[in-house]
Amino acid sequence: MRVLIVGNGGREHALAWKLSKSPRLKKLWVAPGNAGTGLEAANIPIAADNIAGLVAFAKKEKVDLVVVGPEAPLTLGLVDALAEEKIRAFGPSKAAAQLEGSKVFCKQLLRQADVPTADYQTFRDADSAMRYIKARYPLENDKAPIVVKADGLASGKGVIVCSRREDALDAIDRIGRKNEFGKAGSQMIIEERLEGPEVSVLAITDGKTIFTLPPAQDHKPAFDGDKGPNTGGMGAYCPTPIIDQEMIEMIEDRILVPTIHTMKRNRKPFRGVLYAGLMMTTAGPKVLEYNVRFGDPECQPLLMRLQSDLLDILEATVDGRLSEIDAPVWDPRPAICVVVASSGYPGEYETGKEITGIDAADSMPNVKVFHAGTRLENGAVLTDGGRVLGVTAIGDSISEAKLHAYTAVQKVRWPGAWCRKDISDKALVAGG
Ligand code: AMP
Ligand code: GLY
Repeated sequence: MRVLIVGNGGREHALAWKLSKSPRLKKLWVAPGNAGTGLEAANIPIAADNIAGLVAFAKKEKVDLVVVGPEAPLTLGLVDALAEEKIRAFGPSKAAAQLEGSKVFCKQLLRQADVPTADYQTFRDADSAMRYIKARYPLENDKAPIVVKADGLASGKGVIVCSRREDALDAIDRIGRKNEFGKAGSQMIIEERLEGPEVSVLAITDGKTIFTLPPAQDHKPAFDGDKGPNTGGMGAYCPTPIIDQEMIEMIEDRILVPTIHTMKRNRKPFRGVLYAGLMMTTAGPKVLEYNVRFGDPECQPLLMRLQSDLLDILEATVDGRLSEIDAPVWDPRPAICVVVASSGYPGEYETGKEITGIDAADSMPNVKVFHAGTRLENGAVLTDGGRVLGVTAIGDSISEAKLHAYTAVQKVRWPGAWCRKDISDKALVAGG
């Protein structure tokens, strides 16, 4: 098969690495890719949101399957545009990708499907949102445990978790008046603030059958102990002992199945990866958000543990044949991914620093270094983003996987490189 992966992050390097092991793979491209994907596949300089360019390339090269990594091309309708040319693609249609592309759409669907989620209200302008807050929290220094969210895609930055009334008013001002998130902020949601550990439960579905993948935990805040600003994710591990098999079955019954069923009933059938960001509250699991793709960095430890042929699974999903194939087989050993980032991330950072030691880290047994923000220049690997590498390792226990990963992390260097030191420690708290 001739396969094209769209995207340029750590997730796409992991997808390329895993797909390149398939005996049925003939040719693999990544658009636009990074220095790591260039080792597994041919990189082509077409941006992930250049829909016309990607379709033209897939047509010219007679691509059999396009695997879409990030959310932007999905919400822009890449899968639909490829379908018009009879090119198969793994990922939801533009209509189904609204589950991630619009938080208002997502909340309405959750309500319709009777899936547990935070109570919420939708607002179209800052004035009415502020009136609502002032009516609910009348005193100047009131506590206000709520979350204000811009409706559209904002790279995770459009979610503002508030403690006090002033924070809430400020968040509304940023979204609705200062237009910090542009069109993504033309509607906003105010919802109750939930408490509890967070879990990522991803499922692959063809719209009828679902394969729930082992649960993972991301680490979104920049610094140890979940301090500091939110990032795209500083590390992940899988499986997490935070939830057991019984809880996973309840999440399937109460959350995943009703969501997929309701999407189908609304004539927006969902195919691809449905990623539920869940908070495990004392009242049970509640959906914080849906993503419509593999998580980054959750994808890296997940795929390191996958023993089945990923190409078979992705193809069966696209063809609506998931019920005909065996469920994925997983390495029982846990895996963890530690993200090594540029100095300054998630704020401003410089790029173009030469990275050394990748080969030494990568040649360790049980370790794989996935590139995220890197590029190749005159034979040198340079930093090219905020999240630069996802150093991923597998081990007999979570603490062993952690030791392997951090031993490998110490081998990679560039000026200003840093990482969280506590990836996977949440598992130890849970007694895993
Ligand atoms: P989202 O992009 O909606 O997942 O939000 C990003 C992060 O904000 C989540 O991972 C949570 O840590 C936090 N968050 C979102 N919604 C809520 C909520 N209702 N209560 C508490 N925290 C939330
Ligand atoms: N790991 C969070 C995300 O992919 O959005």
